[in-house]
Amino acid sequence: METTVPETEERLTAPTVTQEDESIELSLRPKALNEYIGQDKAKENLRVYIQAARGRTEALDHVLLYGPPGLGKTTLAGIISNEMGTNLRVTSGPAIEKAGDLAALLTNLNQGDILFIDEIHRLSRQVEEVLYPAMEDHVIDIIIGKGPAARSIRLDLPPFTLVGATTRTGNLSAPLRDRFGVILRLELYTPEQLGLIIRRSAEILGIGIDRDGSLELAARARGTPRIANRLLKRARDFAQVAGKDTIDVESARTALVAMEIDELGLDSIDRRVLLTMIEQYNGGPVGLETIAATIGEEAVTIEDVYEPYLLQIGFLGRTPRGRIATPAAYAHLGKRYPSQILPEDTIAFEGI
Ligand code: ADE
Repeated sequence: METTVPETEERLTAPTVTQEDESIELSLRPKALNEYIGQDKAKENLRVYIQAARGRTEALDHVLLYGPPGLGKTTLAGIISNEMGTNLRVTSGPAIEKAGDLAALLTNLNQGDILFIDEIHRLSRQVEEVLYPAMEDHVIDIIIGKGPAARSIRLDLPPFTLVGATTRTGNLSAPLRDRFGVILRLELYTPEQLGLIIRRSAEILGIGIDRDGSLELAARARGTPRIANRLLKRARDFAQVAGKDTIDVESARTALVAMEIDELGLDSIDRRVLLTMIEQYNGGPVGLETIAATIGEEAVTIEDVYEPYLLQIGFLGRTPRGRIATPAAYAHLGKRYPSQILPEDTIAFEGI
């Protein structure tokens, strides 16, 4: 379970979780490492660490998963607990408001259990302070009472594994980051991997889809399984209403056109980010805050949700002076690239 992020606008290609995703994702989530498609590096490393910890009958070292939303961090936490044969407790940074909330979670863990904290960068400083000795020495110090009568008692915890998830490790305080023995970076998926995920999901959901139909959806899912699965469900709706029992490339395309998702998977908000940069800031460099203010989104949302894919497909560049739209972005949006304008000339636009 991930926190549901309120969206100002219904966005089919948002990688954040919706209510519908949540129930469906549960049934689609792979339970074992060998069912999990992609993320080969992270998967192979995890396989070794899990096998070694099991061989020693020890808890797995604490694991930090980082990468853009929708890539399967919660799924991996579930797989780790299945493969270790231990329980999984799921929570998130914003849900742990007080040190006492964390103490309650920790003191309920059994030997080897997995505590998954999504959005771990959003823990408060006070809560983080409780986590340090828990991670390092399996103890927590609880303050009982107030004022001069307050005293601290130390409780022992069973060895457990903290699996933390965050969109960027840079968001994490250094002392917290340093306490993770395993740090795994999740990458955006290739269209081929997403095609496999879509066909696996279609089989579980009993939806007919052919190879080309699945690749058509995969190519527009922005490297993100959560989006791929969402497109699959919408394409099924269009195929069904058209009286087809199999999603073919034609019904996939009809669905994508209707959803205003272009051939690269960009939706109206992605296009607005790029068009703002091109039309109002001459393609940049323009500061992230400026883009955010112009289109009315939060800077962190642009950075975590929209940028990773635009960077991956080479439409956006990051420079020390701000973001730039690349010639490929101009071409995709049918705009003429102002080659006579050097990046140096555009700095005056920043911050306007
Ligand atoms: N469903 C969502 N993510 C998946 C993955 N990485 N592998 C298999 N099925 C998935």
